[in-house]
Amino acid sequence: MAFENLLYAVENGICTITINRPDKLNALNLKTLDELRTAFSDAVSDAAVKGIILTGAGPKSFVAGADISEFSGLTADAGRTFAANGNAIFKAIELCPKPVIAAVNGFALGGGCELAMACHMRIASESAKFGQPEVNLGLIPGYGGTQRLTQHIGRGRATELLMTGDIINAQDAYRVGLCNYLVTPEELIPKCTEILQRIASKAPFAVAQIVKCVDAHYTDGVNGFDAEINAFGTCCGTEDFREGASAFLEKRKPVFTGK
Ligand code: COA
Repeated sequence: MAFENLLYAVENGICTITINRPDKLNALNLKTLDELRTAFSDAVSDAAVKGIILTGAGPKSFVAGADISEFSGLTADAGRTFAANGNAIFKAIELCPKPVIAAVNGFALGGGCELAMACHMRIASESAKFGQPEVNLGLIPGYGGTQRLTQHIGRGRATELLMTGDIINAQDAYRVGLCNYLVTPEELIPKCTEILQRIASKAPFAVAQIVKCVDAHYTDGVNGFDAEINAFGTCCGTEDFREGASAFLEKRKPVFTGK
């Protein structure tokens, strides 16, 4: 697949999507956002892909935010359209039926922090830095940051970061639960790969149901417990459930097919 601003590679069941504008610290312009939508859709429909790593090119930045050079001339209405577009793409990433890990290799600011938070897990290298500095521009996050930061680190800490625009280092991000692991730069991709390979040995349908049920917890008007009951029943109707239960009783490793 040829992209202008992304690198896209599939190896051993893992798709690595790298935002590739290092001279702009991988800032998300509209073209890159659109390519992200396509890349995730491609990864979901490719049966060879079992999990996805999202990262940024170069040693300095995951994503340093939305591309500020595209902000000039945004009116109130255009701003709403701009935010709705990014929100929809990030929601699709959050609802990706295959596991998605953000490998945060540097600045994850503004839209970059929002993008990392839309992934199912975040692993940070020691050089990572997180923040929502939009308030410095007279703005607020527009790609879900006010909501997901509150979900991930709680209301008080999120409100402080949003109001001050402060940037926190990887240790503090780990301490407040914004990332699952904190590793050296060399360990970053291997750690993501190791987790995705373990998940790849599980039943893919069950993994996809976990994404849906966890999301239900955060979705207005949806009862997460009802969603879980329903998804549990659906899993019970799969061949993979029969295989998993039989393999346990026969003291062997299950072989899941996704059916
Ligand atoms: N949008 C557009 N361009 C950006 C960008 C963004 N969000 N973040 C960085 N860049 C560009 C810079 O303009 C610069 O481009 P240039 O070399 O053509 O001038 C290049 O990336 C390198 O950035 P620079 O600021 O020189 O690096 P630095 O190490 O001095 O500072 C940051 C790094 C991340 C602190 C700084 O770039 C920054 O504050 N970026 C904006 C962060 C932000 O507010 N994000 C939220 C946007 S809503």
